[in-house]
Amino acid sequence: MEQTTKEILFNKAKEARKEAYTPYSHYQVGAALLCADGQIFTGCNIENAGHTPACCAERTAFFKAVSEGVREFCAIAVVAGPEGGDLVWTTPCGVCRQVMMEFCEYETFEIYLGTGAEDCKCYTLKELLPHGFGPKNLDF
Ligand code: THU
Repeated sequence: MEQTTKEILFNKAKEARKEAYTPYSHYQVGAALLCADGQIFTGCNIENAGHTPACCAERTAFFKAVSEGVREFCAIAVVAGPEGGDLVWTTPCGVCRQVMMEFCEYETFEIYLGTGAEDCKCYTLKELLPHGFGPKNLDF
């Protein structure tokens, strides 16, 4: 049977999570970002002894894509959980939501959160970042 887009994204996010570098929080996150041209970029969280240079899985995926010239995105799936433990429900941090605001359609970009395609909730960026400030606010 063919996999749905959601299943593909969750599988890729789980695969990406295996590369998470989390010696400080031991909380591992994986993300899979679907681009308008059909490409999928993945990311994991990458921590740092200096703490502030850490990067979330979502931003890793976005920055990989943007650095390859991609600017249009449809959806992202995110999975998370403690190292060696079961996946738990998670939600993107405020900084990642703001990065989404820069590159994604406010009312249509879909954010899948959960432990898998069968156990997830879908939100638009508008739902997760109401009254967001984005590039359109600087269109004057
Ligand atoms: N983290 C993510 O990568 N994405 C999220 O959606 C939430 C939090 C990371 C940041 C840090 O490495 C660890 O999870 C604990 O906050």
